[in-house]
Amino acid sequence: MIPRLANPALDTAALPRLVDALVEQGWYVGEDVIDGELCIELHRELIGLADHDALDVAGIGRGRAHALRRDIRGDAIRWLDRESLAQRRYLEAMGELQNELNQALFLGLFEYEAHFALYPPGAFYRKHLDSFRGRANRIISTVSYLNPGWPADGGGEMVLFDAMDPEREVARVRPTAGTFACFLSETVPHEVLPTRLPRASIAGWFRRNASLGGRVDPAR
Ligand code: OGA
Ligand code: MN
Repeated sequence: MIPRLANPALDTAALPRLVDALVEQGWYVGEDVIDGELCIELHRELIGLADHDALDVAGIGRGRAHALRRDIRGDAIRWLDRESLAQRRYLEAMGELQNELNQALFLGLFEYEAHFALYPPGAFYRKHLDSFRGRANRIISTVSYLNPGWPADGGGEMVLFDAMDPEREVARVRPTAGTFACFLSETVPHEVLPTRLPRASIAGWFRRNASLGGRVDPAR
């Protein structure tokens, strides 16, 4: 067996629990999973992008169905493009997670896409799924939080709901640096509660071959 290189950007000791949680409940949340220094650098980069007006108002839907809906989501985003060392370290860590998931669960994940997201005070993202059943697109969703600490009354938690009973809350995640969440994109409903403070995260998705089943997934 080829020995795998440890990637200090990701706490590899968390991986066995992460895999088990995905299998058993369809979601995982862990604290101190992403390296603190890396979170600081990514946070600095995102704030810099915001200061230079380099974020886009996020929409919903892909391709021609894309629409801006402030009543559904209020974040501003920028897709990761590997331009900075911090981004490359982050994407490398996600590549390591992708390998782990493929080896343990035979998921056939082959691509990862991710964007920075900044929720200004008052912004939220209503309950949704990240992928539509039957479409060969997003399989596993990931979210990493970048704010260095988060007050108990800061709002902005991500709430996960039971796949079988979408009214039943199963987890409430405080968006604080180091915390990492992942879940099945097709089945786990989730929402972002209104935030009181500027809230910084990276949302990402592992995808399967987009043209599986003869259906080509439109460009984002
Ligand atoms: C998303 C999303 C959750 C979060 O971007 O689809 O659900 O906590 N983000 O930022
Ligand atoms: Mn989502």
